[in-house]
Order: sequence, then structure tokens, then C-alpha cells
Amino acid sequence: MFTDTHCHIYREYYNNIEEIINLAKEKGVNRFINNGCDTLSNKEVLKLTQEYKEMYGAIGIHPENVLEYSEDDLKFIEDNLYNNKIIAIGEIGLDYHYTKENKDEQITLFEKQLSLAEKYQIPVIIHSRDATLDTINTLKKYHVKGVIHSFSGSKETASEYIKMGFLLGINGVITFKNANLKDVYKDISLDNIILETDSPYLTPEPYRGSQNNSSHIIEIANFVADLYHIKLEELAKITNENIYKLFKI
Ligand code: NI
Repeated sequence: MFTDTHCHIYREYYNNIEEIINLAKEKGVNRFINNGCDTLSNKEVLKLTQEYKEMYGAIGIHPENVLEYSEDDLKFIEDNLYNNKIIAIGEIGLDYHYTKENKDEQITLFEKQLSLAEKYQIPVIIHSRDATLDTINTLKKYHVKGVIHSFSGSKETASEYIKMGFLLGINGVITFKNANLKDVYKDISLDNIILETDSPYLTPEPYRGSQNNSSHIIEIANFVADLYHIKLEELAKITNENIYKLFKI
């Protein structure tokens, strides 16, 4: 039994959400952490967690929405953290890939959400792209735990995050032929790893090019089990234990 710890299951991407959930369950993926990125998707995440018992939610404002959010959007997050199906603030973080021009605004938004996480003692799900140093320095200012989603940095960065109490999220990127992530992960203990699809993005091989969905945790899991020379069942057991240590799931 596997959990997809990071997906974006919204109607914007999938016409038939029930089908996506059933397909995943048939493959042995029977729990989902659906991540919002703005108020519209946060509301949908909330609604779906009520409709599906297998679905848990993370609500947050993604750095790509830094120029559009309002204080009301943050209030919406705070007002819904009491909900027992909402188990994290996410997807939040820093993204300097396309532009660094709004760096200060991004850090401010990130800090506001980290303060909420600290205040309510709820984990965070972090997006960090081309912004490692600022992510680490910002996280260090708060007493928070969580996941570095889609971790694809160096061994040094991995150990820094692990020291800070963070888990690393592995997705389809590890299966890409040009990714040298395999060498990084080989040296990281499995106690620090959880599996995610980031669907509808980052479809693993051999399905790269088509839309991703949570059932593809299985391809990622097979790849990771091979890499660590363990059985699939053992990988499921270890990664689920890691999830239980962090999330109230
Ligand atoms: Ni994501």
C-alpha cells in the first residue's frame, strides 16, 4: 500500500476525479495528499477531502501566485487548519527559476505561511526551485517540520535538510535518463524519504510525455526499490512509517 504524498488532483487537470482515484487504488496507491496552490485550489482540496476518505489535504499559496494573493487568502488557510483532513500547509516555498525580481515578496509570503505552521504546529510541504540558500535560511528562522517536495539537489543540501528534520520527496524525476539524482539518493537513508507523483506533472518513465496521475507511484516505487536493493513491500512499509512520523494521517 502506497501513499501519493504530493499531487494536484483538481478538475482543472482531470475531468473525472473518481476515475483517477480508482485507477490509483487498483494499483495499490490508496492514500493521497492533495496540495493546493491558491484559494481556488485550496477550496477544491477541502471539498475533495470531505468527499473521499482516502484523500488528505495541504492548503497554501504557491510562490508563483505571489503577486496575486491577498490577506484574505492567508486568512482562509488559517481558518481551515482546524479541519482534521488538512494535515499540512503546502505547497509553499520559493521559486527563482523564471524570475528573481519578486524574491522579497516571495520570502514575505513564505514567512507568513511558516509562521502559521509554527503557530498551529502543522507540517509544511516545501517547493524550492533554484532557491536553495534562501529556502534553508528562511526555514531556519521557524520551528517547523515537513517535506522538501521534489528534492533534486546535492548530497550536501540533502543532509542539511535532513539535519533540520525534513523528509525528502522523490518523484518521477528520479527515473529520467538525464537525472543524476540516483547518485544523490543512493547515499541517503530511506528513513528520510517519501514518495510522490506531483501529478499531473513529472510523469515517470516509461510514460514520460503523457499526463501524470497517482497510479504512477508504482513506477517510482519500483525504481526506488531497485536502487536500494529492497523489496517493494519493504519500501511501502518504510515510507509509510516516515509519513506517520510527520503527518496526522
Ligand atoms: Ni506540486
